[in-house]
Amino acid sequence: MQSPSYEKAKIRSKSEVLVRKFSLDNSLLEIGLNKKFFLKTYGCQMNEHDSENIKGMLRIMNFSETFDLNEADVIILNTCSIRENAHNKAFGMLGRIKHLKKDKPNLIVAICGCMAQEEGVVNEIRKKYKFVNFVFGTHNLDALPKLLNNSFINAKLNIEVKSIEGDIIEDIPVTRDSMYKAYVNIIYGCDKFCTYCIVPYTRGKQRSRRREDIILEVEKLYADGYQEITLLGQNVNAYGKDLYDDYDLSNLLEDIAKIKIPRIRFITSHPWDFTDSLIEVIKKYDNILKYVHLPVQSGSNRILKLMGRRYTKEKYLELFHKLKTIPGIAITTDIIVGFPSENEEDFADTLDLVKECEFDGAFTFIYSPRENTPASKLKDDTTLEEKETRLYKLNDLINKYSKESNLKMLNNIYSVLVEGESSKEGMLYGYTETNKLVNFKGDLTLVGKIVSVKITDAKSFSLDGELVE
Ligand code: 5AD
Ligand code: SF4
Repeated sequence: MQSPSYEKAKIRSKSEVLVRKFSLDNSLLEIGLNKKFFLKTYGCQMNEHDSENIKGMLRIMNFSETFDLNEADVIILNTCSIRENAHNKAFGMLGRIKHLKKDKPNLIVAICGCMAQEEGVVNEIRKKYKFVNFVFGTHNLDALPKLLNNSFINAKLNIEVKSIEGDIIEDIPVTRDSMYKAYVNIIYGCDKFCTYCIVPYTRGKQRSRRREDIILEVEKLYADGYQEITLLGQNVNAYGKDLYDDYDLSNLLEDIAKIKIPRIRFITSHPWDFTDSLIEVIKKYDNILKYVHLPVQSGSNRILKLMGRRYTKEKYLELFHKLKTIPGIAITTDIIVGFPSENEEDFADTLDLVKECEFDGAFTFIYSPRENTPASKLKDDTTLEEKETRLYKLNDLINKYSKESNLKMLNNIYSVLVEGESSKEGMLYGYTETNKLVNFKGDLTLVGKIVSVKITDAKSFSLDGELVE
């Protein structure tokens, strides 16, 4: 039994990051025979990719997947902590599962992901959700096989969550959700400690994967016919800083571009670490997609300082305009409204920044206080109603610009990676290099291929087009 601790999760030492290899005891290879698992994933791409690893481990233990909660022998919730509503969703689901467990006492229920790393959450599970079998954290995903096996033997709640700074585990089995698009972790954790954000506590110290491990993974994906990879990290631009003196994201991207996989994306970028050499590499290689997600969070210098973002509005704009010199680039962002003490003037500064940047798209959020973060201790006297009004105003503006940027694409031809059947009958959907959703008529044999599509209609959130032979 090992429980998470807020105090330990804050620590950042200079100690070396341990790289471990996944291993599985032969005795666990068949524990899943004739058993089904149901896995629910909340949150970001990092969690989605962790779930692909969880599925990989379950598959080699011979579990099969079910999408029907009632059929499951094992239920795993891979949770997210970023905002309160993510918390509420997971706890709501636990409420539903509680009823299931009454009829099916042998049902195994496990919680993992970012919520598992929160001391407060684990205490709540101990008190109110005693039927949960085990909890494991983001630092020990590979503990799943053993914990699962133990829970078949002893049904009592077992908590195995480490609040260490984090190791790196290589070669965890993976069952990818797509045969064409793949996530590749390049850096784990975050050391930026923005004052509102819980991630540095739930995901640990910033630690880069060794370049040779990343390159090997991408080479395998290329050999398997993958068309697109997304390099993942809370802050990909910090890649290499903890590991090398003279090898950063620009070098890694260049080495990966040479593998010739057709499409390379990377998310998420922090403006602080965006170097000129990175911009040059993006320009130089056709297979590095001209798309950057560059969260700004606020347009007010006062609020940016309180958020601990390490840049001013002016510095952000300078970088933004530099990026705009890359031909065909699309830039999206994240914005939080209603941060403690944000006033009308601060909010007007955010709207001004949006007007200047005319973003291709943005994810917008109402500030959500997260337990134990510095911002949660700040006085916040703006009403929820006021925050909602600001969010609606902001969204109107964001939608206007994303529609305008889509309209500029009308009658032009773009390459689209076809992902599957659209919700509209007889239509396919896919994404352009700049991550715009396109629906068009076509044959299912095109799924997984990169095709040319002429844009015929543009809305705020999607485009319609027709296939060009
Ligand atoms: N409240 C609201 N939004 C948040 N984000 C991170 N933490 C919070 C919070 N406490 C947003 C930021 C970040 C995105 C992933 O989630 O905009 O870029
Ligand atoms: Fe959170 Fe800031 Fe790190 Fe992003 S950069 S994960 S917002 S602390």
